[in-house]
Amino acid sequence: MGPASTLALNHLMKRQNESTCEDISPAYSEFAHIYDWVMHDVDYEMWADYVTGLIQAEGVRGKDLLDLACGTGNVSLAMARRGYRVTGLDISPQMLDVARKKTQDLVPPQEMRSDRSAMPVPVDYIHGDMRAFDLGRQFHVITCLYDSINYLRSQEDLAQAFICARDHLKRGGVFVFDVNTECQLARSHNKPATMFEKGDQIILFWQDRWVPRTKTWQVRLSGFVKEGELYRRFQEIHEERAYSPAEVQACLDKAGFGRVTVYEAYARQPARPESPRLYFVARV
Ligand SMILES: C[S@@+](CC[C@H](N)C(=O)[O-])C[C@H]1O[C@@H](n2cnc3c(N)ncnc32)[C@H](O)[C@@H]1O
Repeated sequence: MGPASTLALNHLMKRQNESTCEDISPAYSEFAHIYDWVMHDVDYEMWADYVTGLIQAEGVRGKDLLDLACGTGNVSLAMARRGYRVTGLDISPQMLDVARKKTQDLVPPQEMRSDRSAMPVPVDYIHGDMRAFDLGRQFHVITCLYDSINYLRSQEDLAQAFICARDHLKRGGVFVFDVNTECQLARSHNKPATMFEKGDQIILFWQDRWVPRTKTWQVRLSGFVKEGELYRRFQEIHEERAYSPAEVQACLDKAGFGRVTVYEAYARQPARPESPRLYFVARV
């Protein structure tokens, strides 16, 4: 551990003893600014290829895609690069700011704009809650990836989100989403804290625990981000709830979805009890 992280750890331990509610920022507010750094080894391109394969296997040819809980736009951009016209929706304004900035950075300079092939496909980002939104239009495909469904805390919320998704799907459209399974989330039980360091620029402590009674995985993030000579400190608490495949299916039924196929993530084989992540493909 370097001197910066030793200082940070001492500070953190002192502050955790004094911790008050005001110290905690909303999930994905401060974390938004370092999310892409923490997720840098996630293979979003492989995910996008996998999702594209699932969509094509369902025979869906239309290209209008809504990416729910799009975050910083990693899935949205990967799908846009595969020819989809993407709208991303997320509840965190800070995650959307990062996503929009990445899209702006993609816009080529004026002198290159006559070459249409050099034009990146823009993604339209919208602030909203996936449990209650009305975009006034429908899509061929809706995606919701990387645990985002687990952030919904009750089956009522799940059903609300599925009803909204269903209302925004064109006839014959498909809703593709993943969920972390209970077996995966429960793995965090009694795990020691993890520390991420980016030189002396960012130090992040990640302490997680599994609460069997509520089937929730709780993560306390404590970050120190260097600003000039000082460190800005933040804390966030994230919670993901585990749902069984039967609970998810019941909510999809309630929302009026038709055929539902469940896969073990990144494979075409059926879910197993020990699968860490499942992909649901729901048809209207
Ligand atoms: C783990 S991140 C995944 C982001 C992105 N899909 C990705 O693959 O990187 C979870 C995202 O869900 C969003 N989220 C959580 N609850 C939401 C809700 N009710 N409506 C919309 N977005 C939500 C968070 O703001 C966050 O961006």
